[in-house]
Amino acid sequence: MPPDESALTRLPRHVAIIMDGNGRWAEARGLQRNRGHLAGVESVKEIVRSVQDLGMEYLTLFAFSSENWNRPDSEVAELMRLLEVYLDENLVEAQERGVRLRVMGQLDRLPVSTQSSVDRAVEATRDNPNGELIFALSYGGRGEIVDAARRLMRAAEAGTLDPESLDEKTFGAHLYLPDVPDPDLLVRTGDECRISNFLLWQVAYAEIHTTSVMWPDFRREHLEAAIEDYRSRERRFGMTSAQVETGGGAGRR
Ligand code: IPE
Ligand code: IPE
Ligand code: MG
Repeated sequence: MPPDESALTRLPRHVAIIMDGNGRWAEARGLQRNRGHLAGVESVKEIVRSVQDLGMEYLTLFAFSSENWNRPDSEVAELMRLLEVYLDENLVEAQERGVRLRVMGQLDRLPVSTQSSVDRAVEATRDNPNGELIFALSYGGRGEIVDAARRLMRAAEAGTLDPESLDEKTFGAHLYLPDVPDPDLLVRTGDECRISNFLLWQVAYAEIHTTSVMWPDFRREHLEAAIEDYRSRERRFGMTSAQVETGGGAGRR
């Protein structure tokens, strides 16, 4: 059978990345862990540009998990500082490129100065049309699901939601960024193969690519390798291969 041209050229619309390995990258060089986080910012800059240049619409970066609050205070403070510097310094480029910056997570836990940088960047780029860069900050997938459940329970209590009518679509509409499509491709760097509480609901059918490359070493070529890997997969969404090839599915749910 001739290769399906559209399948070969198809790009993920939404890439999500668990940026892991900063600490080990630094330790392998006899450096403090925080030096790894600093080096990781360069990877963020290159990957943000590459995703846009390659024509993908959404990039979600796992920058700080709800569990990362348990790290030493000095490391948490440095991660917050780097985030503020990144947002402040890259706002001009985001505007030039027309990228919309967004965030997801329990933002009220962030230091006030970080919240200010976040608010400024989100507000200034709100109407930018050339793709979305989403930072998962103080984010946990279970926390997001619990937050959604709380909102739904309040709606039921207020009489605006009938519990019997609750379905996946309504539930999904109460997550942090309901208008963002689910990630097609989930990349994890740093030689680990776990989800670590990232986007639990949204990765239901994401293709997963892991690499031993530590985040500070992750460059455009590694992103391209992840996309090649993605293109080699057949996404069946529970159907059979034959159904996928004929564009079918019985249409029942
Ligand atoms: C990822 O690198 C950055 C964050 C989690 C904020 P790590 O800091 O987890 O690096 P390793 O996994 O310890 O090497
Ligand atoms: C996941 O990395 C969180 C981020 C990349 C922000 P971790 O380093 O925190 O994950 P675990 O602890 O190895 O699972
Ligand atoms: Mg880690």
